[in-house]
Amino acid sequence: MGIEKVGVVGCGLMGSGIAQVCAAAGYATTVTEVDEKRLQAGLAKIEAQLGRSVEKGKLSAADKAALLGRLQGTTRLADLGKCDFVIEAATEEAVAKKQIFADLDARLPQHALLASNTSSLTIIALAAVTRRPDRVVGLHFFNPVPVMKLVEVVRTIATSDEAWATAKAFAASLGKEVVEAKDTTGFVVNRLLVPYMLDAIRCYEQGLASKEDIDRGMKLGCGYPMGPFELLDFVGLDTTLSIAEIMFDEFREPRFAPPSLLRRLVLAGHLGKKSGRGFYEHR
Ligand code: CAA
Repeated sequence: MGIEKVGVVGCGLMGSGIAQVCAAAGYATTVTEVDEKRLQAGLAKIEAQLGRSVEKGKLSAADKAALLGRLQGTTRLADLGKCDFVIEAATEEAVAKKQIFADLDARLPQHALLASNTSSLTIIALAAVTRRPDRVVGLHFFNPVPVMKLVEVVRTIATSDEAWATAKAFAASLGKEVVEAKDTTGFVVNRLLVPYMLDAIRCYEQGLASKEDIDRGMKLGCGYPMGPFELLDFVGLDTTLSIAEIMFDEFREPRFAPPSLLRRLVLAGHLGKKSGRGFYEHR
């Protein structure tokens, strides 16, 4: 199936990165946000990121202009009505995502595929609110999207062979490596990564070591680019809490249970890098 027009719902941390890589791969890309302020902030982030690549000599000014020429922003979901492939990267909230899927299903051409970038919700629950469950998949990107090579492509019990093949080919066309995952909460990476981050918080709570030393230990001992507390701040403590809650709800295993320190920090508004403070201060 030929894909020419791509839609991205949400221009936040993940959506802006996804829109950027789609436009970079040559797709006519339309990205939506709920209001003009958020849309302009997301588009500005993309422009700044591309500007840095030009400064470093990794992208020509002409290629930057061509990429931005393929990228359009809107606050109307209806403007995605002619897309062949839409990736939803809205807030990690089941009710909101279902509403978006139902709205998109009513507007998109019959052949179009719908994907969610959810990191923990079950894809079939989103597919079930559409009249095209055979053409719904998960496409889970990693932050920062332009840098991280992986996309988990998630197949539900209803996904057709054709949609599955198209989704994998589409992810590969973005220059990403594909890992095939079943539609289980957390897929592959978060199934392993989230308990690891939660365990690091429990180690810190129990006084095993300082957070700085736990981070240094994992970076120098295992070669990880970030320690668990740096990564928690990078992913967002609210996002991690919400993923952990969904995973605990699904599996009922203590390793997925959010530690109380994580809850307290989120209640205090210490959400990580995005709020200026999480486990660390960010200026
Ligand atoms: N957007 C785009 N590009 C970015 C970026 C961003 N936010 N941040 C850094 N980069 C680019 C830089 O421009 C630089 O590019 P060049 O090599 O072309 O110059 C490159 O990434 C390296 O950046 P830096 O030199 O500034 O910094 P670094 O070497 O410390 O790397 C990092 C930064 C890539 C973020 C690295 O620390 C890293 O890989 N961290 C781990 C990230 C990770 O684990 N992500 C997954 C999170 S989990 C998730 O996303 C899933 C979920 O559902 C929760």
